[in-house]
Amino acid sequence: MYSLLLQTHSTLRYIVLLLLIAVIVKSFVGFSSKKPFGKTDNMLGLTLFSVTHTQLLLGLLLYFFASPFVKFSGDTMKDAALRYWTVEHNVMMLIAILLITLARTTSKKMTNDTAKHKRMLVFNALALLIILVGIAMSKRGFFSMSVVASQ
Ligand code: HEM
Repeated sequence: MYSLLLQTHSTLRYIVLLLLIAVIVKSFVGFSSKKPFGKTDNMLGLTLFSVTHTQLLLGLLLYFFASPFVKFSGDTMKDAALRYWTVEHNVMMLIAILLITLARTTSKKMTNDTAKHKRMLVFNALALLIILVGIAMSKRGFFSMSVVASQ
């Protein structure tokens, strides 16, 4: 159960990252060329939103039910790996997911298409930065696929 959850969560990271890059590029082009916010923009944003929330669900399952690296003890903050997986990873990823969610929910209410593109661009670019820094901080490397992790 643990290794299935970890592998799925680990693989989904690439889909989240690819979708984020696609949304950022599309909204940058839309913003700079003042293009209308079209069907593709909407579908890309919706797909990113859904995949990210699936990632959140898997992260919560790992966090509360499966990961041996999530520990609430006096030693958690002294051990770099325990501190990262118990505190830092989820806080950073939750902020990134909040930004992705706000990018979609707030831009949907906007009437000006250039403003929509700008909101999608800025919030998702910040989310991408936080996710990249978060993954780099894990010390497992960008392309790690832990079946059962050692740190
Ligand atoms: C966009 C959101 C997220 C991304 C891109 C992401 C990415 C990752 C990556 C790359 C790993 C390492 C997988 C491996 O070593 O193979 C991981 C593991 C993990 N993530 Fe996330 N994560 C996200 C959200 C979350 C959230 C919101 C939580 C908790 C609420 C969470 C909890 C965990 C846990 C507990 C582990 C497993 C540590 C272990 O037992 O090895 N993740 N995540």
